[in-house]
Amino acid sequence: MKILVTGAAGFIGSHTCVELLKKGHTVVGLDNMNDYYDVNLKKARVSHIRKVAKELKGKFSFTVKDIEDGAGLEKIFRKEKFDKVCNLAAQAGVRYSFENPASYIKSNLIGFFNILELCVKYKVKHLVYASSSSVYGNNAKVPFSEDDRTDDPQSLYAATKKSNELMAHVYSKQYNLPATGLRFFTVYGPWGRPDMAPFKFMRMIIEGETIEVYNHGNLSRDFSYIDDIVKGVVKVLEGPNRSKREVYNIGNSSPVALMDFIGCIEKSTGKKAKKRMVAMQRGDVYTTFASVSHLKEDYGFAPNTPLQKGIDEFYNWYKAFYKID
Ligand SMILES: NC(=O)c1ccc[n+]([C@@H]2O[C@H](COP(=O)([O-])OP(=O)(O)OC[C@H]3O[C@@H](n4cnc5c(N)ncnc54)[C@H](O)[C@@H]3O)[C@@H](O)[C@H]2O)c1
Repeated sequence: MKILVTGAAGFIGSHTCVELLKKGHTVVGLDNMNDYYDVNLKKARVSHIRKVAKELKGKFSFTVKDIEDGAGLEKIFRKEKFDKVCNLAAQAGVRYSFENPASYIKSNLIGFFNILELCVKYKVKHLVYASSSSVYGNNAKVPFSEDDRTDDPQSLYAATKKSNELMAHVYSKQYNLPATGLRFFTVYGPWGRPDMAPFKFMRMIIEGETIEVYNHGNLSRDFSYIDDIVKGVVKVLEGPNRSKREVYNIGNSSPVALMDFIGCIEKSTGKKAKKRMVAMQRGDVYTTFASVSHLKEDYGFAPNTPLQKGIDEFYNWYKAFYKID
């Protein structure tokens, strides 16, 4: 298949491109290369995809493009005639949505609207797009099920992700566009995102800096290993053109207390974390916990990488990438 991956220079996007190439698909990657975090890391991810494509003699091309630019995006759709589209481009991050809300509206709402319109116009067989566990807000019932209410988001970021699901629902019903949203749960691993806790903690512990532990450590997250997440994304992309459900959770289904998570990094790195306990942050939620029974039922797959193993892999990559002994 010929598949468009937006956000291809991003954490999940770059891994998705690599996995799709390994499966023999033709991949067109697109990203606006914004400087929300280190652009050199994004460039290195694209170089990595190119290297893998070369080794595999796979077909990969990469374009710098903003999904907010509907006319520019249409030129690509018209030329490439994609079978499927995987939309991972977005302004990510909960905290940053309090600083720069406009960037969320542009990328996550206007950009996503352009993707929906073009998928309909160019008869894309299936749009698979990133949603987020943040749509559950402070859902008290665990594990979080796709049937739980998601009408109390705690940040604009979460609100845009919920809006994506509603927009996709309308395009699916009214314009017959098969669309599937994947609610990712705190993804970590090699080539990770420097703005997220797993990466920040890893770097700061290695460098002997003091980490801030939010809500005095009384938080838990369903940390999910990148290879599991990408396996799930690819299964849905390669699956039937229309999924049985409009959205699926995809997470480890095994929440870990923040202090235990820090303990895993200490174990991998052999270094003790210096911690400062601080208050709950605006927009944060207390826990996340994915029920993945629907994903298992419909795609025969669920994430299963144990946390310590995933952290060890992340540390190995970190050492090699940043050339640390
Ligand atoms: N990593 C996680 O734990 C997590 C959890 C829940 C949801 N998500 C979602 O998964 C998707 C991928 O996340 P990620 O962790 O890889 O983030 P990321 O920031 O590493 O990747 C997103 C990529 O999209 C690009 N991008 C942003 N706005 C764009 C635009 N307007 N046009 C073109 N490209 C644009 C960025 O440059 C970046 O490379 C996002 O939609 C994110 O909201 C991620």
